Amino acid sequence: MKLFLIGMMGTGKSYWAKKLSKKWKVGGYDLDFLVESHEEKSIAEIFAEDGEDYFRKTESRVLRWFGEKKTFVLATGGGTPCFLDNMDWMNKNGVTIWIDEPVTVLAERLKPGRDHRPLIKDLSDEALLQFLDNKLAERSSVYGQSTYRLQGEAISDEGFARIIKQHA
Ligand code: S3P
Repeated sequence: MKLFLIGMMGTGKSYWAKKLSKKWKVGGYDLDFLVESHEEKSIAEIFAEDGEDYFRKTESRVLRWFGEKKTFVLATGGGTPCFLDNMDWMNKNGVTIWIDEPVTVLAERLKPGRDHRPLIKDLSDEALLQFLDNKLAERSSVYGQSTYRLQGEAISDEGFARIIKQHA
């Protein structure tokens, strides 16, 4: 079982990676966290000090570690699939699941923790919604290359279980 969880920031990729890894007894990982550990800096610091290009290169490099792993569930970053051939690579090296929540839900979830997220930290509530709308429109064609897409009630233990049973 090699699962890559993809989707916009705020969709719960990290939450689900943790939950699924416990339930299915496989290693659960978070790509943002691995990048932060590797760089010994927060994502916000990497963006501010080294720039987004550097972050994307590092993210892509750390993602490739999963080529060696036999079984895992990995929460990727919201932008991961959209840079440096990462989507193709994930589809060749495992199963990709797009967690697709509406932008209104994402905006509500993201409002409180904006400071830690470099792409949205300076946005007003209204601008945040607009930003998410634009980003999703921009990224949908890449997210849409995923093996599975979960929406609504399918974003649940049962929804994931249906997929996992086919790949365990
Ligand atoms: C990003 C999403 C973040 C993080 C970085 C950039 C994006 O991950 O990788 O701030 O481009 O959407 P989460 O989706 O885990 O918040």
